Amino acid sequence: FCRIIGTVMASHNILLAPGDGIGPEVVGQTRQVLEAVGERFGHEFAFESALVGAAAIAAEGIEITDEVVDRARACDAVLLGACGVAGGAAINGRHPERAVLRLRTELALWTNIRPVQIFEPIIDSSPVKPEILRGVDMVVLRELTGGVYYAEPRGRLTVDGEPAARDTMLYRRSEVERIGHRAFQMARRRRGKVTSVDKQNVLESSAYWHEVMTEVAAQYPDVEMDQILVDAFAMRLILSPRDFDVVVTTNMFGDIITDEMAVLSASLGMMPSASLGDSSRGLYEPIHGAAPDIAGQGLANPIGAILSAAMMLRLSFDLEAEAQAIEDAVSAALDAGYRTADIKEAGSSHVGTSDMGEAIIARLGVPAAA
Ligand code: IPM
Ligand code: MG
Repeated sequence: FCRIIGTVMASHNILLAPGDGIGPEVVGQTRQVLEAVGERFGHEFAFESALVGAAAIAAEGIEITDEVVDRARACDAVLLGACGVAGGAAINGRHPERAVLRLRTELALWTNIRPVQIFEPIIDSSPVKPEILRGVDMVVLRELTGGVYYAEPRGRLTVDGEPAARDTMLYRRSEVERIGHRAFQMARRRRGKVTSVDKQNVLESSAYWHEVMTEVAAQYPDVEMDQILVDAFAMRLILSPRDFDVVVTTNMFGDIITDEMAVLSASLGMMPSASLGDSSRGLYEPIHGAAPDIAGQGLANPIGAILSAAMMLRLSFDLEAEAQAIEDAVSAALDAGYRTADIKEAGSSHVGTSDMGEAIIARLGVPAAA
């Protein structure tokens, strides 16, 4: 009886939304990793699946149905693969990516956490020199439910009789404050430094972001803070990435700089992310896209998705040892020489998606107390 209660208490409900392209392949491997963690550490993860993106447009005529949004809201965490088709195209006038955008706003996931970690065994796979990369340990906090991605007015209109289109870049004080506080609190648990990225010399919304961040910083005298223009940051990210600890920025700048940041970690395929709001419920997804050119061939790197699941265990379920076990297993698989095509050195061989998943599962530790 106690055992049953224990199992019920430990149950975590995960909505799998594999999406398009390589999404189903990487989410499939990640589910197996989570099942192995559950077995070894004595947790029960309950999985359900949902269609999102082009897969949902094909089946339901819409990127994501209200029913799926409701199920996402009812779960403890969502693990998403990728949404999209070649060239970011629309299908029947609908963009698959809107599924992700809608999940972010409907679940009010206003912080997107994108860490970059350098794995020594694949350090030569990055075009950036190893001496620049060694010791890099940074995380970007991207504002995720505001800014030019969502603010109104937006859309097509006529200007002086000519067709035109517009978006609105707008930030409210509360939106800047809450992500600012989150960045400073995170910096206190890390190396005590926040870098806020904006374009205050040109954009009103950025000048305001800059001003509010300065006010927030005053409440954290123990944390060092600097503010840098996004163009200069783009350069310094490659020239001296070790300068950064916690980086906080707007929705669109965060989108752009995190793809650039992925170059440091050798491949977009290595990069995990977490999206959180006020509660522990989160959306976890690799930052790569659907990669339709390699979909269905078992070539995709599942590590970005698997490391996203580690973030899920840590941030939504408070399972730190289990999260660490996944991260250590990824390092161990890379140490042992396993490489998917995106992270291999020229001329050397590579393994497929499921071989990489199995190599990671084989290296999952058992709990110290067991
Ligand atoms: C990302 C992606 C998304 C974004 C797309 C798929 C809508 O590029 O998560 O970085 O722009 O936020
Ligand atoms: Mg992006």
